[in-house]
Amino acid sequence: QDLTSFNTLGLRSRARSFVRCESAEQLRALSDLADAYRDVFILGGGSNVVLASELDCLVIKMDNVGVRLLSETDDEWVVEAQAGEQWHGFVEHCIDQGWNGLENLALIPGTVGAAPVQNIGAYGVELDQRFHSLLAWNMREQRLVEMGAKECGFSYRNSFFKQAGQGRWLIVAVRFCLPKRWTPVLSYPDLQRHPVLQAAGADATARQIFDAVGQIRQSKLPDPAVQGNAGSFFKNPVIIARAYEALKKAHPGLVAYPQPDGAYKLAAGWLIEQAGWKGRRVGAAGVHDRQALVLVNDGGATADDIVALASAIKTDIAARFGVDLEQEPVQVG
Ligand code: EPU
Repeated sequence: QDLTSFNTLGLRSRARSFVRCESAEQLRALSDLADAYRDVFILGGGSNVVLASELDCLVIKMDNVGVRLLSETDDEWVVEAQAGEQWHGFVEHCIDQGWNGLENLALIPGTVGAAPVQNIGAYGVELDQRFHSLLAWNMREQRLVEMGAKECGFSYRNSFFKQAGQGRWLIVAVRFCLPKRWTPVLSYPDLQRHPVLQAAGADATARQIFDAVGQIRQSKLPDPAVQGNAGSFFKNPVIIARAYEALKKAHPGLVAYPQPDGAYKLAAGWLIEQAGWKGRRVGAAGVHDRQALVLVNDGGATADDIVALASAIKTDIAARFGVDLEQEPVQVG
């Protein structure tokens, strides 16, 4: 199976074995099938992966769809979406229904099932803040388990499923807790600067935020349908206060956000831009010209091209700033 159109970086990749999961009834058969393989990789929208040219593992693509209101109290709605639903379409559906709370996460590529794996976050909201629970299939033990936030081990761009659970658990559906007494989250600088939101202030509606986030993302981030990319290629590194003070002294323009625990999260895009990488090309891979945190495929790139560029950037940033960048997308094969 050719996977070039199944990964938003558009890397040329082939899977020796590939199967789609369209409903929960297939789970048992999939587990039996997986027994014959050393490794399994579960593919959602392919928006956070770097796929090698040849994959020997079994690739399972989650294609189950459906959204329903699971329950409702005076305070909240609990909405359940199947893993194969497109994330953005799901968010829009919620806004249409008046189930607010996910609007800051508009236009993120990928599927609902992949969203908890990396604990997607943008413009001041992280998935774990709206998370109720998920249903996951344990491939080895062949049972469906409901997992709460604690068991999912969420942290910044990370979860149990990206670590120990990789290839062993298959996320089938995700449930979100959406507040009836909703208040807008407008803290992110890009939102504060947006003219419509600025005018609306605390009266901003979820729809206005949804639209504004869409506009901001379109102005900065390349559309994967036009130029292959996997969004941010590196995490924003978190460093201790002492290291931050020293770095700030040496680089007064440093962009950083204080964390609740006293540490600082650095804007990796700023570091990469300062190092002169923005817009640079190395073979078929390059650094986006409007957001240095995003690596792009100019056509025909393979995982090796992207990895070579990423590693050159990492080496340079470590040498210049003494900061280690960590790759965000999952490397497969
Ligand atoms: N910056 C630069 N040059 C650049 C890019 C950024 O100087 O080329 C500086 C600017 O000062 C800017 C600041 O960095 O104000 C932050 O940039 P931006 O608002 O674009 O956010 P980010 O920290 O680069 C993170 C997420 C994005 C998410 C945005 C908005 C990570 C790894 N990335 O990027 O997520 O959309 O915040 O919340 O945390 C993704 O993961 O694919 C993604 C796009």
